Amino acid sequence: MTNRMKLIWLTLITLSLPLLFTTASSTAQESVAAGELVQEEGWELVRDNCTECHSSLIIVQNSGNRDVWKSRIEWMQSSQGLGELDLEVEGSILDYLTSNYGQKTASRRQALPMHLMPSNSNL
Ligand code: HEC
Repeated sequence: MTNRMKLIWLTLITLSLPLLFTTASSTAQESVAAGELVQEEGWELVRDNCTECHSSLIIVQNSGNRDVWKSRIEWMQSSQGLGELDLEVEGSILDYLTSNYGQKTASRRQALPMHLMPSNSNL
């Protein structure tokens, strides 16, 4: 190969490298976009029963144990016009919500102890 050919090859390879990386990162972003339900078992039931009145964003930004999720559903049924759900469907929805959006440990930091607070001349 002549030096000139080598140079052309090198230039082509160098120029095409960024293309490779761009394709790889856009595939990764397609996995779970903001507000989309995690596609685990039962997600279609949640999509079909729970996104008629509001987007899935309100669901994915919430969390709770089974009782918390059940009480939210009951609240929507008693005050927001959500109809009765088939018991089996409700069970699967609760399974899905509990395992994918379960209770978080404390989501707020504890208050600072007094001795770490800035001094306050009013006290
Ligand atoms: C008939 C309409 C309707 C359907 C169907 C519905 N919701 Fe709701 N939901 C509401 C309304 C109205 C609110 C209050 C919206 C707001 O505060 O902006 C709400 C709020 C919520 C909230 C936020 C509660 C909070 O404490 O802030 C969650 C979580 C939720 N819904 C989950 C669900 C799930 C899970 C389902 C499926 C079982 C569902 N929704 C189906 C009407 C509905």
